[in-house]
Amino acid sequence: MRIGPIDIDRPVILAPMEDVTDRAFRQLCKRFGADIVYTEFVSAEALRRGAEKTLRKLVLEAGERPVAVQIFGSTVESMVEATAVAEEYAPDFIDINFGCPTKKVAGKGAGAALLREPGKMAAIAEAVVRRSSLPVTAKTRIGWDHDSINIIDVLRRLEDAGIQALAIHGRTRSDMYKGRADWNWIAEAKNHARIPVIANGDIWSAEDALAMFRHTGADGIMIGRGAIGNPFIFGQAKHLLQTGVVLPMPGFSLRIHAAIDHLELSVACKGEKYGTIEMRRHYSTYLKGLPKVSVVRNAIVREDDWQLVTEILLAYERECEGYARDGRIKEYAEYLNDHSDKLVLNY
Ligand SMILES: Cc1cc2nc3c(=O)[nH]c(=O)nc-3n(C[C@H](O)[C@H](O)[C@H](O)COP(=O)(O)O)c2cc1C
Repeated sequence: MRIGPIDIDRPVILAPMEDVTDRAFRQLCKRFGADIVYTEFVSAEALRRGAEKTLRKLVLEAGERPVAVQIFGSTVESMVEATAVAEEYAPDFIDINFGCPTKKVAGKGAGAALLREPGKMAAIAEAVVRRSSLPVTAKTRIGWDHDSINIIDVLRRLEDAGIQALAIHGRTRSDMYKGRADWNWIAEAKNHARIPVIANGDIWSAEDALAMFRHTGADGIMIGRGAIGNPFIFGQAKHLLQTGVVLPMPGFSLRIHAAIDHLELSVACKGEKYGTIEMRRHYSTYLKGLPKVSVVRNAIVREDDWQLVTEILLAYERECEGYARDGRIKEYAEYLNDHSDKLVLNY
């Protein structure tokens, strides 16, 4: 799949996720095999105002490339200005969000709301492409609701606007995150496409990744919730794609060490205090299904010193070795199958 100078065969991509795909998590996913990563979406209006917190989201690390900055907004002017600001941070490409369903975005005419105004969507895309010296891609849903699925029309307009690849989440705006993503519409769009199509929605395992490629014929696939607490999914998917072999799910040791690595990266990116505090909401996803996890979680979410958190986690690893000997550790794959619906966050 080509996006400008980026040329990767069947890339497995980390989806943009607000409050999740920060610099630390992107680097972690990269280490575990993600081919391309995206920042959380950033508001064009906030960039225009020079909001400090938003600008910080644009800071990128050499170790995470290729990386895209994703921007959202409701006007041509704000999006053109945001493009100029984003470019100063030297991402590998710029992505436009035309898929966010939430009130704070779609309710203000940006994100998925533009599926109802495809003319304006195309005008924004064209203006961003014209302003940018980098490749520009877009990410969207299949339509506003099931009575107005317009992904084929949207694809054509975005191609004409100069968009270089389109990521499609196989749900409508009104679906939010309910039900199953409709992979048939992604396959249909791929049939019509002149640009690379990146398929997204409900890839929870390496087997799902392979199934998504087979079902849609897409050029790349994008994984969101399935990577939360499970960055191993990238390496596993690629291994299956390249060798046909399914790797075993990571055991407790790897998962605990992924949490420790994530903490270290978080501290490196955000400093000791905030890096430690912001990691608190992630531990349960790494440790879920492990025995007596609430005891260790309660201890680490109260701890401000990241080195002590690391020590607690290493002690827990030793404890888990005992549980494993007693055969009391449930397989992670089995756990994910049982709980994938509960991984839907409030987005
Ligand atoms: C917590 C969360 C935050 C998200 N933030 C963004 C975002 O900033 N930009 C975007 O394009 N999509 C965002 N999404 C949507 C995901 O990128 C993806 O399209 C969606 O979760 C479906 O893929 P999945 O089934 O692999 O999770 C977000 C999703 C979640 C769960």
